[in-house]
Amino acid sequence: MALLIAVLTLVLLVSASTSPAIALSLNHYEKTCPDVESIVAKAVERATMKDKTVPAALLRMHFHDCFIRSGGPTWEVPKGRKDGRTSKASETIQLPAPTFNISQLQQSFSQRGLSMDDLVALSGGHTIGFSHCSSFQNRIRNFNATHDIDPTMHPSFAASLRNVCPIKNKAKNAGATMDPSSTAFDNTYFKLILQGKTLFSSDQALLTNPKTKGLVYKFASSKQSFEKAFVNSMIKMSSLNGGQEIRKDCRVVN
Ligand code: HEM
Ligand SMILES: *[C@@H]1O[C@H](CO)[C@@H](O)[C@H](O)[C@H]1NC(C)=O
Ligand SMILES: *[C@@H]1O[C@H](CO)[C@@H](O)[C@H](O)[C@H]1NC(C)=O
Repeated sequence: MALLIAVLTLVLLVSASTSPAIALSLNHYEKTCPDVESIVAKAVERATMKDKTVPAALLRMHFHDCFIRSGGPTWEVPKGRKDGRTSKASETIQLPAPTFNISQLQQSFSQRGLSMDDLVALSGGHTIGFSHCSSFQNRIRNFNATHDIDPTMHPSFAASLRNVCPIKNKAKNAGATMDPSSTAFDNTYFKLILQGKTLFSSDQALLTNPKTKGLVYKFASSKQSFEKAFVNSMIKMSSLNGGQEIRKDCRVVN
């Protein structure tokens, strides 16, 4: 959890980092708000004590923000995190879908300057959080003409998901946690991929390419190498430059 709070502080403000690769100014808030990192870290920590799902929601929000309005590459060194001036629900169509295969995932990430290594490391974000049935229902019923259930899914895992997700899911809030340690930021997600116990086709797809498969094995066997790669790729994703302005008040456009 300490790592996660650190990462979130980092990505939300894009301030402290030892990596020179980070294109944004490291001391943007030095004069105006010198304690910004510890203030945000404390706020996230407090919120997390009340509600353990807070980090997951923040992490996913960060991913969405970066993917939806990020533009092409530029050589300009941004001075602060640029925020967009528009936010449209319709633009979420640009997000990768949980049904994506490896080539679709690769394309989606490379369009934003992110590599296959980034894809595997960042998919590790699914070590925390929750998903609604609608995001994986394609795998547990009427999968295709020959298989009712996705054969890459562990049979008992698929059976438990079918129990959790009723056919007529009227309330629409049913679902499952990403992994049994869904509030712990660890490498369980990668171990689960190897057992066929992850929720999305896009998770399982990481085993269908030799390069990404190798990384899944590596991260499954070393939590440390996963954390290192994750932080590295988060910084890279944070630097995606789709924003138009540095906000004076982060909640409203200037
Ligand atoms: C590789 C492509 C990705 C796909 C296809 C994908 C897809 C999804 C889907 C379908 C959900 C569940 C939504 C729902 O049913 O409620 C989800 C949740 C989540 N995703 Fe991803 N995602 C991807 C990458 C990422 C990345 C890069 C991160 C962050 C580093 C991330 C972090 C999360 C988190 C934390 C949640 C749980 C949110 C919560 O519990 O509130 N995902 N993702
Ligand atoms: C992935 O899906 C796309 C679109 O359906 C298809 O054209 C492509 O051949 C698929 N690639 C793999 C590796 O299955
Ligand atoms: C159904 O999916 C399985 C596993 O991906 C595949 O082997 C099989 O060929 C598919 N069947 C059809 C009819 O597409």
